[in-house]
Amino acid sequence: MSNVLLILSSPRGEASLSTKVARSLADAIAGQRDASLTVRDLGANPPAHIDSEFVVAATAPSENPTEAQKAAAEESDRLIAEIAAADTLVIGAAMINFAVTSPLKSWFDRIAVRGKTFRYTETGPEGLLKGKKAYVVMASAGVYSDGPTKAIDFASPYIRHMLGFMGITDVEVIRVEGLAFGAEAAEKAISGAMARAGALAEAHGQALAA
Ligand SMILES: Cc1cc2nc3c(=O)[nH]c(=O)nc-3n(C[C@H](O)[C@H](O)[C@H](O)COP(=O)(O)O)c2cc1C
Repeated sequence: MSNVLLILSSPRGEASLSTKVARSLADAIAGQRDASLTVRDLGANPPAHIDSEFVVAATAPSENPTEAQKAAAEESDRLIAEIAAADTLVIGAAMINFAVTSPLKSWFDRIAVRGKTFRYTETGPEGLLKGKKAYVVMASAGVYSDGPTKAIDFASPYIRHMLGFMGITDVEVIRVEGLAFGAEAAEKAISGAMARAGALAEAHGQALAA
């Protein structure tokens, strides 16, 4: 059975466009087959920022962990189990101050754990979450897909890198961008992203059927 994991991370609740497009894509992919869909809304329920208890639990676990260390390990393990069980990942990402939202950063901080999602080998790091497909829906007021502003998009290259670091290299980015460039441009950006999401969902289904 196929498992789709939808990660949402906007602070804008129902107004979020990354959520709208990512949800539509995840629903379309999950609806094609007998797939389960798990939704983790990091915007609504942000993972706590990592702290010293997490660092001990993740990097040098004690034989007698404190309650806080146990809780930190459990939270990481729960989030890691969720992504490990998924074959398809859909991430809705809002650009906030040229980067990802802090809940999405905290999620990556909690799941990038040595020995669980990556390991070090003699030739460098190796991701352990292989064989997954990821779609990243990136919403922004400005346009970052091309031109001089491409260099100040610290969100999508970061997401792509973190996924690759953990072994997820098949990543498609769908942009909902230029949302601040007037109502017409915004409408065009949203309808273009929705159409792209529809086409990607169809291609996803065809690839699985082939
Ligand atoms: C606090 C804040 C900071 C933002 N920073 C940026 C930014 O650096 N660059 C940009 O293009 N848009 C920025 N935006 C606009 C958002 O990216 C835009 O509203 C987008 O639609 C957010 O994604 P969402 O619709 O999924 O919530 C910012 C919005 C807020 C509320």
